[in-house]
Amino acid sequence: MPARLSHVAALALYFILNALPCLAAYVPLRQYEGSTFFDGWAYYGNVDNTTWGNVTYLDRADATSKRLTYVNDAGNAIVQVDNTTTLVRNADVVNRDSIRLTSLDSYGMGSLIVMDALHIPYGCSVWPAFWTYGIEKEWPEAGEIDIIEAINDMERNQVALHTIPGCSKADTLPQSGRTLETDCSTNRGCIVAESKPNSFGPGFSEAGGGVYALLLEPTSINVWFFSRADIPSNIASASRTSSLDIESWGTPTAAYPPTRCNLTQYFPPQNLILLTTLCGVWAGNPSIYRASSCPVRR
Ligand SMILES: *[C@@H]1O[C@H](CO)[C@@H](O)[C@H](O)[C@H]1NC(C)=O
Ligand SMILES: *[C@@H]1O[C@H](CO)[C@@H](O)[C@H](O)[C@H]1NC(C)=O
Ligand SMILES: *[C@@H]1O[C@H](CO)[C@@H](O)[C@H](O)[C@H]1NC(C)=O
Ligand SMILES: *[C@@H]1O[C@H](CO)[C@@H](O)[C@H](O)[C@H]1NC(C)=O
Repeated sequence: MPARLSHVAALALYFILNALPCLAAYVPLRQYEGSTFFDGWAYYGNVDNTTWGNVTYLDRADATSKRLTYVNDAGNAIVQVDNTTTLVRNADVVNRDSIRLTSLDSYGMGSLIVMDALHIPYGCSVWPAFWTYGIEKEWPEAGEIDIIEAINDMERNQVALHTIPGCSKADTLPQSGRTLETDCSTNRGCIVAESKPNSFGPGFSEAGGGVYALLLEPTSINVWFFSRADIPSNIASASRTSSLDIESWGTPTAAYPPTRCNLTQYFPPQNLILLTTLCGVWAGNPSIYRASSCPVRR
């Protein structure tokens, strides 16, 4: 296992907002925050059987007793990977305890999801993700949207959509990020790389974290990233009851238009997923891992 791991996601709050018909403002629908943060999620309670990382995702009872999920004195939700157990190296499979949360509710077109984090886990072998998919169908029949996802020593976030065949990303809407892949049905999905600094890794935390937002509309799926100092004033001053207007937010990092993808068809209501895995099919892929600056131990 790597020497330096940083394993805590500190989440100030999530806002889920729905559009008011005929208005450009989104009104509060649900919030995940403070002492009730963990009530809105299901704990996976199983090994990582989707991306084959070396983790066991705890159920709620174990997560609570091992203090891998809790709300701290500042009211921030902490979601942590076990960083104290010394694992036995010679066992067949060595899994570290971690957390995978799935929101109990799902969110369809007309939703705005705002996520504020102070810290996102990073480091060699570390693969955190905040993403959505439609849990009612076999993945990826109801789509997947990766809002935050990066691995190992990456310092920039990557946004991606995953779909069944027939959905591609067109670049007909302005975005600040760089499109890396356009076919959303391939293994890698249709990817947009963040171009702003401090979207992931030590830079994210040292800047005090930041806000990620996902807009789901039939006319565009957008993702914005704002480092702490750049958070729009209407988000920074938002209360439990304030509505949010996205007009002042500027160009999103990623904008997926409906031009070459019927967004309504490929993205029925989405559940939110928050997890950290270790190694697995992306972070632990030997050629990808070796291409990073991460140490290799035998
Ligand atoms: C993962 O394991 C859970 C619990 O056994 C099971 O319900 C689920 O279908 C599995 N998922 C995959 C993709 O195999
Ligand atoms: C485990 O992580 C917590 C939170 O970042 C940190 O305070 C603690 O020092 C870490 N423990 C070890 C043994 O690294
Ligand atoms: C990590 O998981 C992979 C995939 O299940 C497995 O092949 C490998 O042996 C595991 N490594 C350890 C150290 O358990
Ligand atoms: C997109 O898909 C929706 C839902 O399946 C359908 O109602 C709509 O007609 C489709 N739009 C276009 C332009 O094909």
